[in-house]
Amino acid sequence: MLLRWAPNLLLGAFALADTKLYELGISKGVSKEGKQVISLNGKNDTVGPIIRVNSGDTLNLLVNNDICNANDYEQYGELYCDTSIHFHGVVLNNNGADLGVLHDGVPGVSQYSIPSGMSYWYNFTIPENLCGTYWYHSHSSVQYGDGLRGIFLVDCDYRQKYIERVIAKLEADGTDGTLLENLPPQGAKVPVQEVVMAVTDWYSKSSVEILSQVMSPYGGPDPSVEGSMMNGDTGSVKFEVAEGVEYVALRVINTGMSGTNVLHVEGHRLCVIETDGVLTKPYMIDTLSIAVGQRFTVLVKLNKEAPARVVHGCGKMMGYVTKTHWLLRPGQVAGDDYVGRVVHLPGLDKNEMYKQFVPLEGELLPEPSQQLSLDYEFDGDEAREPFGTTMYTVNGDTMQEFMPDGVLIEGARGVREPIPLHGGGVVEIAINSIDHMTHPWHMHGHTFQVVSVGRKRDGPLYFDNPESPAMKRYLADVAEWQDKVPMTRDTINIPGRSYAVIRLRADNPGFWLLHCHVEWHMAKGLGVVFAEGDALVSAVSKPFARQSDAAGASTALPEPSSTADAAATPTVSAVRAISTAADAPASSAAPATSQQQPSPEAAMPAASASKGKVLAIYLLIMCTLNVAIWLFFFR
Ligand SMILES: *[C@@H]1O[C@H](CO)[C@@H](O)[C@H](O)[C@H]1NC(C)=O
Ligand SMILES: *[C@@H]1O[C@H](CO)[C@@H](O)[C@H](O)[C@H]1NC(C)=O
Repeated sequence: MLLRWAPNLLLGAFALADTKLYELGISKGVSKEGKQVISLNGKNDTVGPIIRVNSGDTLNLLVNNDICNANDYEQYGELYCDTSIHFHGVVLNNNGADLGVLHDGVPGVSQYSIPSGMSYWYNFTIPENLCGTYWYHSHSSVQYGDGLRGIFLVDCDYRQKYIERVIAKLEADGTDGTLLENLPPQGAKVPVQEVVMAVTDWYSKSSVEILSQVMSPYGGPDPSVEGSMMNGDTGSVKFEVAEGVEYVALRVINTGMSGTNVLHVEGHRLCVIETDGVLTKPYMIDTLSIAVGQRFTVLVKLNKEAPARVVHGCGKMMGYVTKTHWLLRPGQVAGDDYVGRVVHLPGLDKNEMYKQFVPLEGELLPEPSQQLSLDYEFDGDEAREPFGTTMYTVNGDTMQEFMPDGVLIEGARGVREPIPLHGGGVVEIAINSIDHMTHPWHMHGHTFQVVSVGRKRDGPLYFDNPESPAMKRYLADVAEWQDKVPMTRDTINIPGRSYAVIRLRADNPGFWLLHCHVEWHMAKGLGVVFAEGDALVSAVSKPFARQSDAAGASTALPEPSSTADAAATPTVSAVRAISTAADAPASSAAPATSQQQPSPEAAMPAASASKGKVLAIYLLIMCTLNVAIWLFFFR
């Protein structure tokens, strides 16, 4: 099928800073393959509407959680039913009353979970210097794999002008080079079309069902990837390119649960200009490798005559799931599927190209005033208490041990004190993979400079051991940076039995996660929580019951913790829902594919009686607690 792609020409003017209202309705749905999913605004293709704002805009996003009813709480529990939204890569400033950290969307760290039947506002201002390609997703359990995710785009004049200048350079010099330097001051006004490509892995079972296997006593952390998706479509996607368009700007986002993805546009070269919201000096490559959580913008000069065949590989344990997509001008038709092997694609480099993708601006951060090493490994020998399953550890602790039942930012503490980062200073963190697998690590609240990345089997890096292979590579890399800037981003793949060293300025006080973005590994505790500087404590807003629902709310659902919150919030109908079906990156009307078509029964996990009991007790305690709090404060 052809996508109905409203040509989105980049050469537009931008409005002044504005307040943008969005609304996300979250509910339980069933995909066209019969798999249980989480729908956003009623759509079941596991990728939500695009949220699009300008730098400097204020976003008012209303989230209405309707995933579960009381029976669902019994069956699936709060891990499935309660939610939150994280804006991946959107680094918000902490200024006075409007603390960015409060909108980071991590339950137990910066906010309370939003129970089903309740709502929550994410209201924040996009910093003027933040512009590029981001995404949003649930930070609760493994929900985003079931569909609680979408693309978040921030526009600005500066980025558009830069794209025009890079195109002027490509027009003048052709696409054969590598690093393009000395861009002309004036851009080229040629028609450019933006194409969003959200690539992910795919499973025949719902995430909540897979999770129960992963979290069983000796459950492995890597359920097998069974397929892949492009913009929520498990088939071959045909992108319609408007008449007269000469360049496409591909905005590529790996919104997957696991697995690095690979993209190649046959017969075309890719000009990389963005790594995770950071504009880069234009760098020409042939094949793009995208770790989970990463984003890139690449410019592609389209051939005039032939349609462009896009080869898409999604990494799995052994090899790749291979798909073919098309960029088609009016009248062009798709040809045959690619039958070659992804590993043979020209220029495929699965290592981070941290020396090639150089930021357009900025300089190497000064020598760090704090250095720390984090060793992570899969503690595969025994089920760890109190989790009842084998877990990952980082320096001996699992991430779950940092997260309290309350909210860290309000002063509650987990079993572990968060790791302190010296506020205001430059911090260098060595992340050491004791494990043999590649893991994508993501930092909240910051972008970081990638100072050094080991090759597979370089071993861990400890700053006090100058003789190790890792430390030798690191010292050589640091020497090289004296007149260059390292790749800057928020997510990075770390090779197995190796390390990465990231450098950042700890100028954003708050509680921030650094974690592996494979969601199965998150569930098994692969991450840490930092306490940066004097993490200011401010009023954390609470989820609230919608007025229309409040009267008839089921007593089995957790009650709002403050009735005052509910009274202060407007009704849902007062909000303009501007995220429409037309915003979605791809239509769901895909042709049937040769993918495994799971039966609808297979998609429903069996209820666990003991878990149900635990939950019933949990809900009872929560209700009692809420009544107690209510009596304490309002009597
Ligand atoms: C999504 O799934 C739900 C539950 O099966 C269904 O009611 C709804 O109509 C579906 N939405 C679309 C757009 O197909
Ligand atoms: C968020 O913005 C909405 C719409 O402007 C407003 O009604 C609401 O009170 C705000 N909520 C918070 C917690 O700031």
